[in-house]
Amino acid sequence: MNLIRKMLTANAAVLVLWAAGAQAATNDAIAERIKPVGEVCVQGQECKGVNAVAAVAAGGGAKSPDQVVTAHCGACHTAGVLGAPKIGDGADWKKRADEQGGLDGLLAKAISGVNAMPPKGTCADCSDDELKAAIQKMSGL
Ligand code: HEC
Repeated sequence: MNLIRKMLTANAAVLVLWAAGAQAATNDAIAERIKPVGEVCVQGQECKGVNAVAAVAAGGGAKSPDQVVTAHCGACHTAGVLGAPKIGDGADWKKRADEQGGLDGLLAKAISGVNAMPPKGTCADCSDDELKAAIQKMSGL
């Protein structure tokens, strides 16, 4: 009888150890699953997520005309939404360029926005050069 009790106690102890070990192994997995989708960053303090995004943005260097057009301008200029001059419609772009005093005039309008054309064509972090290259790409000018 005594022996059986000892065996049972030993088994129970093993069971407790096993359960604790299993729990430890899954704590990390649980933490990973329930971690917040966003994080709040305080200015002046390290913020992993934002730094990663900034590194990608900075490391990418200048945006290519294709990138800018695909990500921003194409939304309206591909199909001519709201009367936007269509990509590749050289005549429409040329007429506009003539009215605005050439490519730089178009660039100025693209920066300021005009009617339904939003300032910088929604590419707020585009440089003037990047916008100009995108206009050249779309207009063929
Ligand atoms: C939300 C839609 C929209 C987006 C996005 C957009 N455009 Fe436009 N764009 C327009 C419309 C509409 C016009 C025509 C405005 C007019 O003449 O009334 C226009 C006109 C222009 C013109 C000619 C301006 C003029 O004076 O005739 C340029 C240059 C231009 N867009 C550049 C860009 C560039 C570069 C991008 C991307 C970085 C871009 N657009 C993104 C809607 C858009």
